[in-house]
Amino acid sequence: MPIRVIIDTDPGVDDALALLLGLLSPELQVEAITTVCGNVSVDMATRNVFRVLSLLAEKPWPPVARGADRPLKNELKTAAAVHGEDGLGNLERYQLPDSSPRYPDPEILPAPQGAIPLLFNLLDRFPGEISLIALGPLTNLAQAILRDPGRMQQVGEIILMGGAIGVPGNVTPVAEFNIYTDPEAAQIVFRSGLPLTVVPLDVTRQVRLTRKAILEEIQPLGTRIGQFIVDSTAYSLELFERIEEIPAITLHDPLAVGVAVDPSLLNLKPLFVDVEIQGEMTRGMTVADLRPIAADLKAKPNARVARTVDGKRFLNLFRERLCPESSS
Ligand code: BDR
Ligand code: CA
Repeated sequence: MPIRVIIDTDPGVDDALALLLGLLSPELQVEAITTVCGNVSVDMATRNVFRVLSLLAEKPWPPVARGADRPLKNELKTAAAVHGEDGLGNLERYQLPDSSPRYPDPEILPAPQGAIPLLFNLLDRFPGEISLIALGPLTNLAQAILRDPGRMQQVGEIILMGGAIGVPGNVTPVAEFNIYTDPEAAQIVFRSGLPLTVVPLDVTRQVRLTRKAILEEIQPLGTRIGQFIVDSTAYSLELFERIEEIPAITLHDPLAVGVAVDPSLLNLKPLFVDVEIQGEMTRGMTVADLRPIAADLKAKPNARVARTVDGKRFLNLFRERLCPESSS
């Protein structure tokens, strides 16, 4: 029986690839997709989900519901510099030989109810069965917890991509983007007592799809999804080419979906983690208690945190699902 999942997302290039991984994996039944502001505005995020869905032949699509349009306290600072103005590497620049757009505007049909009512509805229908995979700032989840903590107890598991436990951040020296964008929301989620599996930068930075693999192995497949990978990653790769030795896309969000597909990809350690919301230089930092002291002297673990990843096996899974002919 596939695992029922709801994917909460702010696409984002890596979110788009994560959605494809979820939708193309028979181990998962994507019951709904909810959107949140983060990499882009929530309207753009919703549109981008439909753009991803339009790549897939299969309908019916899961319901897609629009969520929070701003963090709980912060002003929204999007990540256009990394993901492009449209969040998907500026896809409007690509044309077909007859000059029509390669990515025409998708049909946008959001569910009439918002993200939280849809989430509650599914929790009522499938109590204890839903894995909630959070790929963006945690605003929707925090609002759901504030609105109805009892209902949220029906979540089977929350898998979230976020945080930097024993490594530097990617927005500030200590903070990772999803947590930094809405630290108050993240703190509510980490303090909620709900079952959390955390996929932080420590492991996501180890799963990278190189430009060489994209151009030499994925593009020649000539598939629609292969071409989407080429086109949507080109903008970020140009950026990373200037700052990295080997240009590559880091598959942050796909790894969080990968864990739902195959939990054995990660080594998980129970840890106590909280989120700094005050610090002048440390706002948005995920603070984990890694002290080598007896467990009873520390706060009880509130999360299972990924400490290591079998990167090669994950990349094989990713390639096998999104680019079938190229699996190795
Ligand atoms: C996270 O930040 C976003 O830009 C990515 O989509 C990912 O969810 C990585 O820090
Ligand atoms: Ca994301």
